[in-house]
Amino acid sequence: EATGKSGYDHYMLKEINEQPDALRQCLSGRLDELEGTIEIEELSDLPAPGSVHLVACGTSYHAAMYAATLLREAGVPAAAHLASEYATAPAPLAEDTLVVGISQSGETADTLTALREARARGARTLAVTNQVSSTAARECDDVVYIRAGPEIGVAATKTFSSQLVASLLLVEDLVDVVDDLDPLIEALRDLPGAVQEVLDTTDAREVAAEISGSDAFFFIGRGGQFPVALEGALKCKEISYEHAEGFAAGELKHGPLALVTSETPVFAIVTGDGERARKTISNIKEVEARDAPVVVVTDGRSEAARYADLVLEIPDTHPLTAPVLANVQLQLVSYHLANDLGRPIDKPRNLAKSVTVE
Ligand code: G6P
Repeated sequence: EATGKSGYDHYMLKEINEQPDALRQCLSGRLDELEGTIEIEELSDLPAPGSVHLVACGTSYHAAMYAATLLREAGVPAAAHLASEYATAPAPLAEDTLVVGISQSGETADTLTALREARARGARTLAVTNQVSSTAARECDDVVYIRAGPEIGVAATKTFSSQLVASLLLVEDLVDVVDDLDPLIEALRDLPGAVQEVLDTTDAREVAAEISGSDAFFFIGRGGQFPVALEGALKCKEISYEHAEGFAAGELKHGPLALVTSETPVFAIVTGDGERARKTISNIKEVEARDAPVVVVTDGRSEAARYADLVLEIPDTHPLTAPVLANVQLQLVSYHLANDLGRPIDKPRNLAKSVTVE
């Protein structure tokens, strides 16, 4: 087993460290820098959808939320649905609605049921998956492989990063998300290196040591960083067994703020220097006023770090790729927190890698 872990203490840490390679695989042959195009070959005859429903569970649902945000930014009506809910309370379909199932394993029962339900109602379906020839891949009309390689740790890490990037490629291939594609292509080309830089320079271990005495953690973000806040919290609860919740930064004041005290560290993801950053900084100030320790994950483009007790830096990148980098920092914090607490990181209690029952 030690060989399988390539010298790492856990598969999870190995897989976190495999992310630069996994992303290279995901991007391979899909960026054309000379032509300035992004193309997923296997989708060549898929028409641009009029609207998109994304169905998924767990970590994959957070990737679905990110994809839905991208689609809406491109002007396409889109929503992420929890597959277990969609299966019994499906959203209305139009003739040109595409239903996308995101599933690492391609075998999650809830996601398969949601996709079958959509197909039975006449929708075209597409699977975004890591597993070649999985049930989702076989049953859907189209498939996009994320090519992350095998993931053994129950908590999804590299497959989430690859789902984000594959979703970005997919959406850009189907509809135009950005007016100027060149900076995005450049950012995607540089993304594996930027992830490597986070892995090489991270202070996540020190941050985890500082906060490990707490037993509740909150994560906030906006836009593309909202699903990363949810994922940060999910990873934290899955492997550390500590209470963790993620919120859209703007929702904090509508309830969760009642839980914020000097004992509850708040992770705030602030990238870019636009309106979202400005508003999230206001939320950080609200949290600070309650004496909560604030950990800011930032690219340094705003003044967010000034209001932080602890800072996790990420390289400056395109706004659409920044969620991938912020998430790597949060993966590492959860890993070190769980490790400091002596948890069985690769096999958390009560959880399975792939859940094949509804
Ligand atoms: C299980 C795993 C999660 C995963 C979810 C969806 O609950 O423990 O880590 O995110 O299933 O899995 P999928 O294979 O559909 O992405």
